[in-house]
Amino acid sequence: MHPCFFRVFFHGFLLIFSVLCEAAAFNLDLEKPTVYNGPEGSYFGYSLDFYHPTQDRNALSVLVGAPKANTSQPGIVEGGAVYYCPWPASDPDSCRQIPFDKANNRMIKVNGTREPLEFKSHQWFGATVRTHKGKVVACAPLYHWRTVKVSSEMDPVGTCYVAVQNFSAYAEYSPCRTNNPDPEGQGFCQAGFSVDFTKEGTLVVGGPGSFYWQGQVITAGVAEILNGYSLKTILRKVQGEKQTVAASDAYDDSYLGKRRVCVFMFTVCLSYVLYAELVAGVPRGAHNFGYVSIQYGIKVTDLNGDGLDDVLVGAPLYMDREFESKPREVGRVYLYLQEDVLLFSPSITLTGTHLFGRYGSAIAPLGDINQDGYLGKCSC
Ligand SMILES: *[C@@H]1O[C@H](CO)[C@@H](O)[C@H](O)[C@H]1NC(C)=O
Ligand SMILES: *[C@@H]1O[C@H](CO)[C@@H](O)[C@H](O)[C@H]1NC(C)=O
Ligand SMILES: *[C@@H]1O[C@H](CO)[C@@H](O)[C@H](O)[C@H]1NC(C)=O
Repeated sequence: MHPCFFRVFFHGFLLIFSVLCEAAAFNLDLEKPTVYNGPEGSYFGYSLDFYHPTQDRNALSVLVGAPKANTSQPGIVEGGAVYYCPWPASDPDSCRQIPFDKANNRMIKVNGTREPLEFKSHQWFGATVRTHKGKVVACAPLYHWRTVKVSSEMDPVGTCYVAVQNFSAYAEYSPCRTNNPDPEGQGFCQAGFSVDFTKEGTLVVGGPGSFYWQGQVITAGVAEILNGYSLKTILRKVQGEKQTVAASDAYDDSYLGKRRVCVFMFTVCLSYVLYAELVAGVPRGAHNFGYVSIQYGIKVTDLNGDGLDDVLVGAPLYMDREFESKPREVGRVYLYLQEDVLLFSPSITLTGTHLFGRYGSAIAPLGDINQDGYLGKCSC
């Protein structure tokens, strides 16, 4: 297996693709990386994924999240955005904001006065973005809403938007905006902190903050989310939606339990077995540092084409340490090949080379770029 790894350096508003080809099976242009520009200070490049608007595999573009970008939404400051960037890029400024949501905060009447029902400023929309065939999801984990309570409160429930048909149909999906508020309920859920699609295209949303930070995993079909969607329906139960429920107190934050970490890595959170495999796979010396930082980028995809999903885990805060020297924060990506059902290979690691480069913050599949039947991978 010889995957081709893209490296993306996240330099403020610059996103640069250059290439590191393992085993040199196929060479991309090392001299001329593709550069996309986004607004300064917008965290352009915080997340990204490749996108095929049609079945045509050659029609490829890149979706880039900028969670602090200003948008045209009236009265909203730094709501965040996702950009559509044509590939290959003719010009670094060719990226355009996708209008997932053009609206202001919705209002409700309480005791005769109108007050905001939700708070979209600084909601970090675009912190996560994922695609699956023609489907796109992007989330705002720091979206707050007023809650169902009489006294006004602000709970960071998080929210996501799905789009299909090349962004001609949109719907909001905020599964933690329920009548179960506060930290003990779903009030601090931060839905969309992590998000992905299953192989079949079902949406999977991670909410690390639910039930006193035990976290929860929610799944729903995109067709069901779009079907019957209305801006006016604030509390909505999508047909066929599944949510994990609260476990006993032993799993609360005081116990940095499997469950919490598992939710951060929710796409691999099919079972604790897999979790144990992942943590056991982290090299001993890295354990102290790697443990915390592992809760970040994650991608499940079949890299070697054997029909079993493989797992890539990004650990952007990973610190490298040689003997007694000072640890250097460089970031790392772990690759686990699924050799049999839920049986994973020891990790293959790729360590960042740039100090504070946060290598591994985002991982996205490239598709079969060298047409050898294997998928390439892009990591940031
Ligand atoms: C967004 O707009 C606000 C107010 O206009 C400004 O203070 C802020 O710097 C802008 N942020 C970005 C990332 O452009
Ligand atoms: C509405 O106003 C009444 C009288 O001023 C007050 O007692 C009550 O608490 C208010 N309710 C809300 C929801 O603010
Ligand atoms: C898909 O949408 C993007 C962004 O709006 C647009 O630039 C592109 O031309 C569209 N592609 C197709 C195939 O319609």
